[in-house]
Amino acid sequence: MHIADGIYYIGVNDHELDLFEGQYIVPNGMAYNSYVLVDEKIAVMDSVEANFGDEWLAKLEEVLDGRTPDYLIVQHMEPDHSANITTFAERYPEATIVGSVGAFNMMQNYFGTKFEGRNMIIKEGSTLSLGSKELSFIAAPNVHWPEVMFTYDATDKVLFSADAFGKFGALDVDEDWDCEARRYYFGIVGKFGAPVQKALAKVTKLDIQVICPLHGPILSKNLEHYLGQYQTWSAYDVETAGVVIAYSSVYGHTKEAVAYLEQQLKEKGCPRVVVTDLARDDQAEAVEDAFRHGHLVLATTTYCGGVFPAMEQFIHHLIDHAFQKRTVAFVENGTWMPTATKGMRALMEKCANITFTEHNATIKGSLNDDSRAQLDALAEELAAQF
Ligand code: FEO
Repeated sequence: MHIADGIYYIGVNDHELDLFEGQYIVPNGMAYNSYVLVDEKIAVMDSVEANFGDEWLAKLEEVLDGRTPDYLIVQHMEPDHSANITTFAERYPEATIVGSVGAFNMMQNYFGTKFEGRNMIIKEGSTLSLGSKELSFIAAPNVHWPEVMFTYDATDKVLFSADAFGKFGALDVDEDWDCEARRYYFGIVGKFGAPVQKALAKVTKLDIQVICPLHGPILSKNLEHYLGQYQTWSAYDVETAGVVIAYSSVYGHTKEAVAYLEQQLKEKGCPRVVVTDLARDDQAEAVEDAFRHGHLVLATTTYCGGVFPAMEQFIHHLIDHAFQKRTVAFVENGTWMPTATKGMRALMEKCANITFTEHNATIKGSLNDDSRAQLDALAEELAAQF
């Protein structure tokens, strides 16, 4: 695939992967992107996941057309991109391996070598001329790992952005960018809002016409949208007005309470209500929804004197990913001694800048007039905020 003058795509699609990074379902597979810049010198940008070395090298050979590469630029050392560095280094012994100090430290850990005698250590502001193409490197620590460097090709106005602006999904499947990019963002780099903001501040000063990430499609149109989404997400700002109700239910009574609350919220004019069953739905999707919207209701049963496991796991996901700046309400169920709200609130207090609602609801077994009235009051309070 030709991207710009002398820039080619040689990435691969993975439809066999069960879980990305050992935890995220990828119904439409995953793409590991790799690029070749052909000039007086030739640079390859990042390798691909372990199972795809042969396919990647075959694509590279086709682009090389008999030439040999001069550089392998290593922007990110996570194994979905680094697993074939040694394969490349053995195939092309004259090529120089280019990366940050952190990247070479990781190569020592993964491969037992820093490629001494054939390495080029780059840092913020380092440059590399390929002939007509002038590359400069931008440190982007913790987007997603600390060693990450972005690469800017000033000649073609192309930003190679490592994991940033990537998404779940292989490139031979056509799907909406926002949904799977958002799930990817909050799952993979959600915790690192401040480093993403720093990287954004650097790249928004550049004249960029194409963004080439290491996952997902190459972005060449409407770049303001993607940059704007990253600005919103990394600032933990609300993207869409609405209420997410994340729940778990054992015998259906809590589910019934959630359905009642959903109906009340809609009747009272809530612009959008999203309901997710934490025991059955994809929790990464629930995390994405929680970060997307401004209001979150956590509804669950009391379990072993605490919080039902699916809910406890979900709240730990929120804490781990630096959930913040949101309004949170609780609905608990407990037949004889409801304590779930106490447990959920204690966990949610670990998140920064959370506003807890005045009204919450307690159900003792099944819904009755008293618990319906509590849910009415909660719905009233939430709906009044839109
Ligand atoms: Fe796509 Fe952080 O690796």
